[in-house]
Amino acid sequence: MDNFTFHNPTRIHFGKGQIARIADELPADAKVLLLAGGGSIKANGVYDQVKSALGDRTVFEHWGVEANPDFDTLMPAVELCKKEGVTWVLAVGGGSVLDGAKFICAAVPYAGDDPWQILVDAGASVKSALPLGTVLTLPATGSEANMASVISRRAIQEKLHFLSPHVFPVFSVLDPETTYSLPPRQVANGIGDAFCHVLEQYLTFPAQAAVQDQFAESVLRVLITEGKKSFDNPTDYDARANLVWAATCALNGFIGSGVPQDWSTHTIGHELTALHGIDHARTLAIVLPALLEAQKPTKLAKLVQFAERVWGVTTGTDEERATAAIAHTRAFYESIGIATHLADYDVTAEVAPLVAKRLADRGLTAIGEHGDLTPERIEALLRAAA
Ligand code: NZQ
Ligand code: ZN
Repeated sequence: MDNFTFHNPTRIHFGKGQIARIADELPADAKVLLLAGGGSIKANGVYDQVKSALGDRTVFEHWGVEANPDFDTLMPAVELCKKEGVTWVLAVGGGSVLDGAKFICAAVPYAGDDPWQILVDAGASVKSALPLGTVLTLPATGSEANMASVISRRAIQEKLHFLSPHVFPVFSVLDPETTYSLPPRQVANGIGDAFCHVLEQYLTFPAQAAVQDQFAESVLRVLITEGKKSFDNPTDYDARANLVWAATCALNGFIGSGVPQDWSTHTIGHELTALHGIDHARTLAIVLPALLEAQKPTKLAKLVQFAERVWGVTTGTDEERATAAIAHTRAFYESIGIATHLADYDVTAEVAPLVAKRLADRGLTAIGEHGDLTPERIEALLRAAA
């Protein structure tokens, strides 16, 4: 196990009715920016609960944060915060609203000339941020308890991330009942995204990290069983509660502590969203099986462990077990309605050299836990995903 420092400062209020806790979290004199998406929180009653908890605090609202939050949608909110002297941001919605809020929190006190630089330098220039609270309505990204944010800029066809300890939410409310209104497509996306988050941190090479490995395997098994149950029975509270908590545990820093990490499926997947607007989780479902196939030799030991402990595959050679694990993974995505080939999204293999070049242009010529995914190999694996 590698050395690590683990610190996750986000306070989680989990369960039914917990939106009321916002009243205890925000100072009475807080000037709050309430950030929201396209309106789902009005339709499902979450907005009313939030407003009630906010009481008579001063609240400004900024609506319209889209899936894959756009820099140009967020900048007016940054200006609003500066003009009104906002002291807290409250994000209410899915990962896109939360990520957009993190960007706003970092951009308001930002000392540089151009806040896009926060994305260009991946957060290195972020020195402070407004405090952030969140009410998460879509279990998927882990954004409710991590320091990551992914921002798109359609005007220049980019999708980049930043990391900063300053944007960990101070608190997050996770009430599984707020997710009952999700359409099946978004429930599936959430399961598929969280599943891949675990694999990016687990499916590398052995690091003698038994706690992290076995915790990761538990989260994977819960996503497979409870996730599927929750997909099939959206208002089964216990199944949904387990899905919500699994998605948080998948990317709150715990299972990734002291172990090698990959993240190349995400790096390649973000390009497919930037170029073709494919849902984040669906890009992962396209890239992941092809990437695991391409990386089978270097991931073999963990693929065999994954096969046995998560999929119950206990016979065959190591090569056969690894192949079975990849097949099970693809079938799992397909079982929740997520197609796993480029062609399913009307994208041809012509995208493969383009993605490889865009990554190379950003200096990403050696990604993956061994730095062995070169532009040529990225192109080849994407062609295999056609
Ligand atoms: O805009 P509204 O009306 O709220 O509708 C949203 C949106 O259309 C809807 N929705 C959310 N909660 C709902 C609901 N509809 C009905 N009932 C509810 N309770 O769902 C749609 C998708 O929402 P979005 O927030 O875009 O989905 P998700 O949570 O999957 O977030 C995806 C974004 O997160 C980034 C992705 O790249 C993408 O931009 N990621 C962030 C990460 C992080 N911060 O750590 C890591 C991830 O790997 C990921 O990259
Ligand atoms: Zn993801």
